[in-house]
Amino acid sequence: MSRPLASKHLLAGKLCLVTGGSRGIGRAIAEAYAEQGAKLALVARTTSQLEETAESCRKLGAPEAHVFAVDLTDGKQLADLVKQLEAKFQMVNVLVNNAGMMSKSGSTPREGDAAEEEMLLKLNTLAPMRLTRLVTPKMVEAKEGLIVNVGSVAALEPMSSVCDYAASKWGLRGWSLSCHENLRKDNIKVVIIHPGMVRTDMTTSDKTEASAQKRMIQPTDIAEAALLAVRMSPSAVPNEITVRPGPPVFG
Ligand SMILES: NC(=O)c1ccc[n+]([C@@H]2O[C@H](COP(=O)([O-])OP(=O)(O)OC[C@H]3O[C@@H](n4cnc5c(N)ncnc54)[C@H](OP(=O)(O)O)[C@@H]3O)[C@@H](O)[C@H]2O)c1
Repeated sequence: MSRPLASKHLLAGKLCLVTGGSRGIGRAIAEAYAEQGAKLALVARTTSQLEETAESCRKLGAPEAHVFAVDLTDGKQLADLVKQLEAKFQMVNVLVNNAGMMSKSGSTPREGDAAEEEMLLKLNTLAPMRLTRLVTPKMVEAKEGLIVNVGSVAALEPMSSVCDYAASKWGLRGWSLSCHENLRKDNIKVVIIHPGMVRTDMTTSDKTEASAQKRMIQPTDIAEAALLAVRMSPSAVPNEITVRPGPPVFG
């Protein structure tokens, strides 16, 4: 995690745990880390998509890619996952807290569903906090580690149509920036990436115009951002990265 920009296999020997690693942004990050020789632990609920991504990671250079069907809103499943990983691999070297959701029932002061709101906060904010706490002791012991959180531009400004999503990402941002301050003395890098609209299942459907889909940020662009902290020397941490669309996506 500390070699010069041009080196390949920057993650050789490292175990990278990627939540939401089955598709979208998580898949792109997993594949980029695979190209750097990482061992992957991919987490989501849908095994078939996880298996597909694991296969792709192996082809790209990951010496190992393991899949874990875990519901990240369940604290016990999180604890069991990390226990299992540490028993097999000693420690998680890189944690990517990427899995996230938006409400389907609306999420403003005028509408919304309490159960869905609770699930959203558990997935977008609490799961990253809990996973961080679970993997940190070994990182502190090793005096090395990287934690990448996937935030959103919704953590930077008010979003009147997705208020609960914005709240969850502002919370994650506060956690991430505070963890950076807390963990930097132990040589642990903590990064948060704020994407604008990215072309994934979260933002597109069959009805989304092809031209708009093309103008959206691509998942591989976010993977590039997730590689920055790996490429930089231990002296530098890109602790907050914002990636916005170039030309406007719509219109
Ligand atoms: N797309 C965008 O425009 C955009 C912009 C800014 C930020 N983001 C953030 O980027 C991250 C990834 O988004 P994406 O666009 O790649 O979304 P996506 O394509 O919908 O992928 C979401 C991933 O999270 C997993 N997941 C969802 N609920 C889960 C649960 N309860 N337990 C375990 N895994 C779960 C999904 O797999 P299963 O459903 O199989 O569990 C999937 O792997 C999210 O945090 C999102 O908020 C996205």
